[in-house]
Amino acid sequence: MPGNENIEYTDEFITKLQVAFGKGFLSPGGIEEVAKILEGIDLSGKEVLDIGVGIGGPACLLVTHHGAGKVTGIDVEEPVLGEARATVSAQNLQDRIELQLVKPGPLPFDDATFDIVFSKDSIIHIPDKQALFSEVYRVLRPGGWLVMSDWYCSEAPFTEEMTSWVQRTGLSFAMTPIGNDGSLLEKLGFLETAILDRNEWFADFSKKLVEQMGGPGYSYVVATLGQEDADDWLSRAKARVVVSTQGQLRPGHIRGRKPT
Ligand SMILES: C[S@@+](CC[C@H](N)C(=O)[O-])C[C@H]1O[C@@H](n2cnc3c(N)ncnc32)[C@H](O)[C@@H]1O
Repeated sequence: MPGNENIEYTDEFITKLQVAFGKGFLSPGGIEEVAKILEGIDLSGKEVLDIGVGIGGPACLLVTHHGAGKVTGIDVEEPVLGEARATVSAQNLQDRIELQLVKPGPLPFDDATFDIVFSKDSIIHIPDKQALFSEVYRVLRPGGWLVMSDWYCSEAPFTEEMTSWVQRTGLSFAMTPIGNDGSLLEKLGFLETAILDRNEWFADFSKKLVEQMGGPGYSYVVATLGQEDADDWLSRAKARVVVSTQGQLRPGHIRGRKPT
């Protein structure tokens, strides 16, 4: 069976992430952030690949808010895909969104299959970025766009707080500065590449999240996660404020176009 055997996005972790980022999302920013990633890109009627579809919130927006014709969402973990199926069915989008469990590595699609490759905060888990981006290039049609966001780090060495935050996530991260991805895309032949550092937005988002989760929202967090996990989750959210304010954790957007 394809997919990861060591599940990182367990049901419990999925619940925690939704407490922070909203129903259907394993990453921050929801509707507005997906729209910002796609700014200036016309998705209407297009065939889109979503790499690291998670539990499906962003994939649904590609169809409902951006007019994508068809979305193929891939992921390497079965629990997230189970949730994604429920997200898609709840919005009655089964005809427009196909979900597929894949193995890490080469993308299981023919050359020039998609108009757009989208990804939100997932490629951080893929160590061989050059191999991944060359696969993206291969499956894109001529003139097609890669549009994605990811969690990047600063060029500076990790602070103690950053090292500790990464360890606390318990996730396998292959985090690099955003410039590395930009250079890779250019080297592989992508044109019109652009990068957008979202550190300032994310630091502000993280502060507001802590104010909400630790303030009026805390009774909901405790009711959902239990006291011990709620305390731990709030403390991890506070640690994100520190590392984003330090400029160490730097989410960002990146895009590039395959030549026509
Ligand atoms: C932070 S979540 C983001 C999910 C979704 N894009 C969102 O924004 O809500 C990262 C996702 O990437 C998936 N992932 C990790 N490695 C992957 C790979 N090699 N190929 C595809 N997905 C992968 C994880 O299983 C997880 O669902």
